[in-house]
Amino acid sequence: MNKMVIALLLILTWTFPASSGVAGPKGDAKAGLELHKKYCVRCHGEQGKGDGPGAKMLKTKPANWTDKALMSKISDDELFKVIREGGGAVGKAKAMPGFKDKLKDADVQNLIAFIRTLAP
Ligand code: HEC
Repeated sequence: MNKMVIALLLILTWTFPASSGVAGPKGDAKAGLELHKKYCVRCHGEQGKGDGPGAKMLKTKPANWTDKALMSKISDDELFKVIREGGGAVGKAKAMPGFKDKLKDADVQNLIAFIRTLAP
């Protein structure tokens, strides 16, 4: 296989993970990773396991994004809503802040694409 084919396959697996909800992960996982490092790592941890340095102080711990059984139960629409509007909007802990003032919808899609790479 040449590099082009491999690159294409990588893009396809990032763009169309197995479980696609209504909104569908249209995002760019690489850009999502950068956003994750900037805004999410302190609670969700570098690897998305919910063990960031700030998580110790949280009463409700963030989920382990590498847990496929768990993450496959959360639709992309729900991820979208949690990230935009915060935990309170979907009946989860309010400690999860909403990012709609900081992030554009496309940024949120990128984050979802990134999250979906952790439990392919
Ligand atoms: C101040 C700490 C904090 C920050 C910063 C934070 N989160 Fe969260 N997040 C939480 C907590 C706590 C929960 C768990 C809520 C629950 O289960 O009741 C959560 C839950 C979530 C969930 C639902 C699945 C899960 O892990 O339980 C998603 C998706 C999510 N966060 C995405 C993000 C993204 C993307 C960012 C960065 C843009 C981010 N969070 C930043 C604390 C945080």
